[in-house]
Amino acid sequence: MARKKLIAGNWKMNGLMADGIDLAKGIAAEVKAMGKPACEFLVCPPFTLLAPVKKALRGAKVALGAQDAHFAEKGAHTGDISPLMLKDLGCTYVILGHSERRADHHESNELVNKKAAACHAAGLKTVICIGETLEQREAGKAVEVCREQILGSVPDAATAADTVIAYEPVWAIGTGKVPTAADVEEVHAACRKVLAKKLGKGNANKMRILYGGSVKPGNAKELLSLPDVDGALIGGASLKVADFIGIAKNAGCAE
Ligand code: 13P
Repeated sequence: MARKKLIAGNWKMNGLMADGIDLAKGIAAEVKAMGKPACEFLVCPPFTLLAPVKKALRGAKVALGAQDAHFAEKGAHTGDISPLMLKDLGCTYVILGHSERRADHHESNELVNKKAAACHAAGLKTVICIGETLEQREAGKAVEVCREQILGSVPDAATAADTVIAYEPVWAIGTGKVPTAADVEEVHAACRKVLAKKLGKGNANKMRILYGGSVKPGNAKELLSLPDVDGALIGGASLKVADFIGIAKNAGCAE
């Protein structure tokens, strides 16, 4: 089952107007130069840059995504952004349940599930993040934690068309540490089994499971050629055009 790889940049809380626009323009130019890339591209800037980045990406096959959304359509939720507002700005994707939000904002599986269902109802695709802490990994619980997060965070009605899973071990994020290829494949294959039970084999076989956590041009080829790794969710390296595009090229996207 061929799954088109997704190369996604999570800019996190980085970028003022000028550098955000420059980064988007640089990525757009490189992706255009690839002609018909074998991968799908996505950038997820902070809310403040969504509109200018959308403009800067014009004409390039690079999708726009946000890093979070509220579950309500509108109303008294000071500081929050609704799925419809994101759709209105030209977003097609939303990252949900990133470990930084689970930690900083105490987001539960239940909340992530509710947000995902609201995003799907608004016509947005979701990238739902899961992943174990170092303590959980050392206790041999990585697969169990990811299983619980998938069962709790992914809506029962999710499909391969509206949902992408991102496996991001918390201890690998921003640390330069990466699990072994065998460990990555073990978790991804286990996640696909859980998805098959929850959503049916058809969806599980088509659903993309990204790896995230210290992905760089130097490790992209090994990680992204694993059988159950269908792309990458990239933090630090997505802030430099050469690194983001280097990852894509080393993953075979330009061939
Ligand atoms: P780094 O690529 O900086 O490790 O971040 C990964 C991540 O959290 C992407 O969502």
